[in-house]
Amino acid sequence: MKFIRDFNFEHKRVLVRVDFNVPLWLGKNGDIDNEEDWRIEATLPTINYLLEQKAKIILIAHFGRPNGKIVENLRLDLVKKRLEKLLARPVIKLNDCIGEEVEKQIGNMQAGDIVLLENIRFYPEEKNNDSDFAKQLADLGEIYVNDAFGTSHRAHASIIGLPKYLPNCAGLLLEKEIKFLSKILEKTEHPLVVIVGGAKISTKIKFIKNFLDKADNLLLAGALANTIISAKGFNIGKSVTEEEMIEETKKLDLDNPKLHAPVDVAVSVDSSGKTSSRISLISNVKKDEMILDIGPDTIKLFTRIISQAKMVVWNGPMGLLEVEKFSLGSREIAHAIAKNPGFSTVGGGDTVAFLEELGLLDKITHISTGGGAMLKFLAGEKLPGIEALE
Ligand code: 3PG
Repeated sequence: MKFIRDFNFEHKRVLVRVDFNVPLWLGKNGDIDNEEDWRIEATLPTINYLLEQKAKIILIAHFGRPNGKIVENLRLDLVKKRLEKLLARPVIKLNDCIGEEVEKQIGNMQAGDIVLLENIRFYPEEKNNDSDFAKQLADLGEIYVNDAFGTSHRAHASIIGLPKYLPNCAGLLLEKEIKFLSKILEKTEHPLVVIVGGAKISTKIKFIKNFLDKADNLLLAGALANTIISAKGFNIGKSVTEEEMIEETKKLDLDNPKLHAPVDVAVSVDSSGKTSSRISLISNVKKDEMILDIGPDTIKLFTRIISQAKMVVWNGPMGLLEVEKFSLGSREIAHAIAKNPGFSTVGGGDTVAFLEELGLLDKITHISTGGGAMLKFLAGEKLPGIEALE
């Protein structure tokens, strides 16, 4: 793998894949603020390095999961605004990623200019890793830099397609993440506790399986645990779940004593936070209720396990962070990790932004910009985006 020090970028058009997938659920004023811009800040060393090298910088980023369609509120204008503020210089934001207008704008670039392309996931070709699309993107630049560690577990066109067509290297953030996380892989200390929350079990089930071998305890919560609770035969009412994953989830060793799913949960008839909620055993969730957070007994169980850990890895919220009363589980888990004197790694846009909001970032040994990417890496799997550079 090459690194950015291996290239001369002077006057070159450099395509830089970044991960600006910021969580906007915290947004109180419609802008990206200090708590939300963490992933943007993490790419500044690479951008500043390329500026010093007099490169023409073309940034490629995604935001949310628009599923190959234009979704107005997933455009990158707010990201542009924040980036301009952080860099204290103008950023030219385009409304497309390829095509005549984009080519014209890029043709006019001077050394030190920064162009931000529109949300790359507006194109279905991105997710399908369409080779024509990758080629059209590649034609915009002369060198490709991957600085999007957080997206390097996705075999998408801007991650694995582009490096096929251009001289390529890892950016400073990607390099830093690889170095740090490799150390953790090589020097795992036990007990190792891995905490996985968030929405989808489908994207994390493989890592969960791998961690069942590596970790001493695996704590599962968030909407992904609903699928587990359901696979165990309990009623989960109207909770968010992935029905199609139930059979696959049953193949996990659900009785493995290392694997801990919630024993009690906070439930309500809707997720607004305005209707009344109650604590329920998982065996007692009603048909019209939704699981929205872990309950007090689960918090006790999880925090006790965390307090005994020598190494903790956390990705994904325990409940619905957007609603304060359903963020209690995540809050308690965050404080338990912060109190643990051992080694801790936390990753993922939402999880890290939440820690920032709680003022706990400096209590964590390593903050990773990757959520799924960090889990995949630490589970010992190869990331397609890293392999593509090797
Ligand atoms: C993330 O937020 O983990 C990355 O930006 C990847 O996003 P994705 O899970 O939607 O692919």
